[in-house]
Amino acid sequence: MFTTTLLDWFALNGRDLPWRRTRDPYRIWLSEVILQQTRIAQGMEYYLQFVSKWPTVERLAEATEDEVMKAWQGLGYYSRARHLHETAKAVTALGGFPSTIEGLRALKGVGDYTAAAIGSIAFGLPSAVVDGNVYRVLARHFGVETPINSTEGKKLFRELAQSLLPEDRPAEFNQAMMDFGAMQCLPSSPDCMECTLQETCEAFRTNRVGSLPVKLKKVEVKTRRLIYIYIRWQGMTAIRKRPAGDIWQGLWEPMNVAEDAIPQGAKMVCKDVKHVLTHRILLADFYLWETEREPDLPEGYIWVKEEDLDQYAVPRLIEILLEKLPRG
Ligand code: ADE
Ligand code: SF4
Repeated sequence: MFTTTLLDWFALNGRDLPWRRTRDPYRIWLSEVILQQTRIAQGMEYYLQFVSKWPTVERLAEATEDEVMKAWQGLGYYSRARHLHETAKAVTALGGFPSTIEGLRALKGVGDYTAAAIGSIAFGLPSAVVDGNVYRVLARHFGVETPINSTEGKKLFRELAQSLLPEDRPAEFNQAMMDFGAMQCLPSSPDCMECTLQETCEAFRTNRVGSLPVKLKKVEVKTRRLIYIYIRWQGMTAIRKRPAGDIWQGLWEPMNVAEDAIPQGAKMVCKDVKHVLTHRILLADFYLWETEREPDLPEGYIWVKEEDLDQYAVPRLIEILLEKLPRG
């Protein structure tokens, strides 16, 4: 149902684009590489410029790198232009474009999406493209709440797209998905009222169009710097129990100071010791401060005999730091 309705929609509404009037793998490839970089309107100008300058992959291969970079100018991400030129030379050396997904995938700058696009459009290979448009259309139409950026979601949507692709019309199906996502089932204001898939659309039926697709927020992993001073005074050292409301509540630690409060005479033991927690990366600097005079301790710290230190529970990072300490 989904597939036939989508293909009917495409027959009536599909965009007439210059690279859709050919099955030449060179032109399909070129359009896909350009469209990785820009929108249709701008991509069209570049595409037409490229094919008029270099009508075949062999001609592009013969161009100088400067000429290719110049033609690419304005698209940004110039390593793509270099890859484009290298790939043109590699394809020419191969005697033409590979006609399998694996062969295409092996070309520089060709990922899963591009390989499926070229494979289906140029060679009729039954391989579904999957990108943001496809995630959105499928998540909404089938009411799938699995996050699109989870491992499970990626697999699920890839398999769903593949299961919907008609083996005899893969090029139309893939381009229909691209156009439907770009013209009808838009990210923020999909035209549900005038949608041919409305009757079967699960998100529409259950009023979840605005909340699908689901995307997991990436928790930002912040780096936090910690500076510890191991004081050595008359066979004792100072520690405190970590307060509530922060990491390591209830565990003990040596003197924890700000960057500008490292005591005169403290010697660095180690620097930038990296320790990864679930939502934090810690970078610790560790100093040894051997002193003759009794230091003033900040509130909360107590003196303990160095030989008794192992009776206090400390975080793993502190254990690692303490192991680096020279014997007193
Ligand atoms: N975006 C990426 N490839 C495309 C194509 N072949 N047609 C339209 N939009 C696209
Ligand atoms: Fe997308 Fe709305 Fe159509 Fe459902 S009804 S496929 S959400 S445009």
